[in-house]
Amino acid sequence: MQEEQDVELEARLADQERFEPPESFVEQANVADGSVYEEFEEEWPGCWTQAADLLDWDEEYDTVLDDSNPPFYEWFTGGSLNASANCLDRHLDERGDEAAIEWVGEPTDEDNRTFTYEELHREVNEFAAALRELGVGEDDVVTMYMPMVPELPIAMLACARIGAPHSVVFAGFSADALATRMNAADSEHLVTTDGYYRRGDHLEHKAKADEGLAGVDHEVSDVVVVDRLGDAYDHPMADNHHAYGDLVAEQAGAAVEPVSRDAEDMLFLMYTSGTTGQPKGVKHTTGGYLSWAAWTSQSVLDIKPEDTYFCSADIGWITGHSYIVYGPLALGTTTMMYEGTPDYPEKDRLWDIVEEYEADQLYTAPTAIRAFMKWGTEYPDSHDLSSLRLLGTVGEPINPRAWKWYYKHIGGEDCPVVDTWWQTETGGMMVTTLPGVKDMKPGSAGPPLPGLDVQVVDTNGDEVEPGEAGYLTAQKPWPGMLRTLYNNDERYISEYWEEYSDTDSDDPDDWVYFPEDGAKVDEDGYITVLGRVDDVINVSGHRLGTMEIESAIVGVEGVAEAAVVGGDHEMKGEAVYAYVITEDGQEGDAAFEEEIVAAVEDAIGPIARPEAVVFTPELPKTRSGKIMRRLLEDIANEEDLGDTSTLRNPDVVEDIEAKVRDD
Ligand code: WT7
Repeated sequence: MQEEQDVELEARLADQERFEPPESFVEQANVADGSVYEEFEEEWPGCWTQAADLLDWDEEYDTVLDDSNPPFYEWFTGGSLNASANCLDRHLDERGDEAAIEWVGEPTDEDNRTFTYEELHREVNEFAAALRELGVGEDDVVTMYMPMVPELPIAMLACARIGAPHSVVFAGFSADALATRMNAADSEHLVTTDGYYRRGDHLEHKAKADEGLAGVDHEVSDVVVVDRLGDAYDHPMADNHHAYGDLVAEQAGAAVEPVSRDAEDMLFLMYTSGTTGQPKGVKHTTGGYLSWAAWTSQSVLDIKPEDTYFCSADIGWITGHSYIVYGPLALGTTTMMYEGTPDYPEKDRLWDIVEEYEADQLYTAPTAIRAFMKWGTEYPDSHDLSSLRLLGTVGEPINPRAWKWYYKHIGGEDCPVVDTWWQTETGGMMVTTLPGVKDMKPGSAGPPLPGLDVQVVDTNGDEVEPGEAGYLTAQKPWPGMLRTLYNNDERYISEYWEEYSDTDSDDPDDWVYFPEDGAKVDEDGYITVLGRVDDVINVSGHRLGTMEIESAIVGVEGVAEAAVVGGDHEMKGEAVYAYVITEDGQEGDAAFEEEIVAAVEDAIGPIARPEAVVFTPELPKTRSGKIMRRLLEDIANEEDLGDTSTLRNPDVVEDIEAKVRDD
């Protein structure tokens, strides 16, 4: 593959070392026997009963995998279960008085909230009853546009209880993004929040929700608003807007029988960015997804019921779905939620939380780790972090330096670090070390988990030699996989399968899943993920489509053309760079740049904010008129531009480069 990736990779692996799992960890690990790899291979797909066995089923399944119609695989068919019953009811006898959720608000002077399993069960029942009363029926999609408040997992579990799929939209996304997702899912119900706290200020979220609702193209029957800010923010409530507090009070003590769902029934939808402007509605199911979330939480995060487990992600992303809500609660552990940012009121807030709650695991993103590194060791050093037993990272490649810093300064060289590769579409972890079994190699995520056939292949689909770069693929299905893109089977095939499958075949062996990541594998089968090979930018571990951003920019009056690429960024991993051609007479000045940035924030959210807007008279294009993104990326990264001879307009590259250096 690309030469520059090889160079980057060499730099990343130059100082690659091995770390053995700490003895103290191995002694108590949920999985400490390496024979699981062989065992799963031999018993595939029957091995996955081990994941399904972590759940309580209303009706036992009769088939582990139905692969008669690839790539529309079905798992645990014939079985039925309820996700909320699995996350709550079945724990009540033994864990009723134990904390299910420890919620920490950002302001330090207020009461944090603990929900025991008993209390969480009660409120989920009450809100499930309230949703029913509002007319939410089985299979109606309920959208949640909520920050990190406990009512978010409560609403998710209430939906799960009555068989209504949820679609959570990250609170940092814009009003437009909310409208697009509600429209795509034909969702008539919204649960939102008046606001939340960010770096000491309150954010007025309801205004954004109202703006989004104005863009919904069908009737929205009701909007439920959680009160987080109290008197701090007075917002109008329309006739169909209800206060969450009133609804649950009206249903005090209500009991809602969990609806038994087929294993293959949709548990939730999650919209994620793709290469077109239209986000993809990834569909996850009740049986396969929940089994996967539970099994990976147990095997990789080593979660035990008596743990206090802390994942610092936002529930608005898949990480929070699988590894704050469903996986941990299915296992009956205590899961933590933190509302705010890690630097408020001081840069030691996470360490303060870890110490106070005696967290056993911490699962976070490389971007956060790079920030902690920059802030300095005095922050973690001033806290007792000895409760930690395991550390994890997710969302983007972690450079060995950051990995080692995390291992040493947070884990005290006594906790395994799991670098977990996966995606919204995979439902849960795919490539990572089993922490009680495998050595760790900083910079490499590790081997595929047992029971997975993940290979790095060349453009023909043939496995590459160790050390060579290629494309990551999954050659066999797995229970947590997406089932399709909502209402769009065709796009499901074209986005994930077409590349390496024989799409005319009914033989599952001819179907290969392509996650759009580049990767390399070493002699030990350890996979180093190199990053996306499609037009998706990974900013701080969050996925953004270049097309989505470009369409926001070309919507600005005075913009003729735009190209957006990802460039390296010290903290964020990647950042957004926008190259813009203005229309005749339109000045490319600071005011116009601001307008463009604001348009992107409006269309997607602050996370997509371009790091730089470069006005240029032309864009580098191939003879067939395709924009050469690679070149623009190189310019953003100040790299050697290589061969530009296939360009229709080679001079333009120098012009753009000169402009970037001026700015
Ligand atoms: C993309 C998926 C996984 C939940 C959060 C992001 C990148 C993810 C790693 C890792 C290198 C990683 C990939 C992937 N990615 N984990 N450990 N090492 N890259 O979910 O928004 O669906 O993004 O994140 O490029 O395709 P997502």
